[in-house]
Amino acid sequence: SSTPIGIHDISFATTSLVLDLGVIATRMGIDPQKYYSGIGQVEMSVPARDEDIVTLAANAALPIVERHGRDRIRTVIVATETGIDQSKAAAVYVHRLLGLGENCRAVEFKQACYSATAALQFAAAMVQRDPQQQVLVIATDVARYDLQSSGEPTQGAGAAAMLVAADPAIIALEPVTGLYTEDIMDFWRPNHRDTALVDGKTSIRAYLHAIEHAWQDAQRQGAPGFEQIDYFCYHQPFTVMAVKAHRHLVKIAAAAASSAQVDAVLEPSLIYNRQVGNSYTASMYIALVSLLDNVAQLDGKRIAFLSYGSGCVAEIFTGVVQPGYASHLRTAAHAAALQGRTAIDDADYLARHAQTQPTDAGAHPAPHETTGHFRYAGLSGNKRLYEATP
Ligand code: CAA
Repeated sequence: SSTPIGIHDISFATTSLVLDLGVIATRMGIDPQKYYSGIGQVEMSVPARDEDIVTLAANAALPIVERHGRDRIRTVIVATETGIDQSKAAAVYVHRLLGLGENCRAVEFKQACYSATAALQFAAAMVQRDPQQQVLVIATDVARYDLQSSGEPTQGAGAAAMLVAADPAIIALEPVTGLYTEDIMDFWRPNHRDTALVDGKTSIRAYLHAIEHAWQDAQRQGAPGFEQIDYFCYHQPFTVMAVKAHRHLVKIAAAAASSAQVDAVLEPSLIYNRQVGNSYTASMYIALVSLLDNVAQLDGKRIAFLSYGSGCVAEIFTGVVQPGYASHLRTAAHAAALQGRTAIDDADYLARHAQTQPTDAGAHPAPHETTGHFRYAGLSGNKRLYEATP
């Protein structure tokens, strides 16, 4: 069909708390510039005790269902690598919190930081089958590594929600994609752990290798060439990773771009993630929101999306910004989400990081801390409780 399909609305949410990475640098006795400029991260979002992937997802998606209604949404997909249950999909909790209709499918997707891209592609295929339907795709994650590990400064949390529809107001997706899958162990989280394990240097090499191979596949499949692309949105575990990846792409695409040009084209997509930290599945879509919110006049511009999930799967696809998109953005709300966070100190952060999930069947209410619309109310009988914030 020739009906364009893509992103009709997009919104992101983050946590109520924030930690300046200088705090971690001071505790570790290292130069904060290693974080601020070496990895390109200034702050990271930290979840309050009543925030998790479900509340972040519902907070990101609420403005979308309020604007567009719920009637045409017959599928909600939650993409996450920080699942809160081994069986039940986080999407089912989110479905209730958002007040979606009972005649709707709800499912969770997993493949490290990549799965939201799979969700977006599957959603586009579903809309192509029935252009009257809309699919709600939500990427949501809380990135957690061990204290004192190399990954500690690359934690963070956030969610991005997208309404996938025919005749989209913001981005029309182009059908050709480039793919790459390889079974490797660069980053993973065994079932018994609530922090991820990572081989940092291996993971950077794996990311670059996967993007290179997905790019070559995209070119063989007939995707637009490097020179036909105006902006690039990368998965951003830390923002300098996007810069490294883009320089690598410039080399393999044999494109003539200076470092200054490379940085200029990427910079608007790095602004939000520098403050949020790694949000895994959400990070490339928060990069898109950052680009849309921070560049004027993107009408008709082509954006390439370079998605990577450790383990690993990569996918590269493109989309074209739709005329009139700017009146559909939520720039003020996104600025408020970032500026509204409360700064915490190291002692507070350490206490939160040390907290573990109770494993008994007793009642464990969560204190009310969040400034969001939804909260995790605690655990009772091993069941997670969620509610709209009173
Ligand atoms: N001022 C400025 N820059 C400084 C500096 C200073 N004082 N001190 C160091 N730097 C620079 C270093 O030169 C280095 O830059 P280059 O890479 O350009 O040489 C940079 O800061 C980082 O320094 P190190 O390499 O020494 O840092 P590290 O080894 O302690 O940690 C890391 C870096 C491995 C990325 C670590 O943060 C990590 O393990 N993060 C988690 C894994 C990760 O994010 N991997 C990314 C690919 S995997 C993926 O994308 C999936 C996912 O989401 C996890």
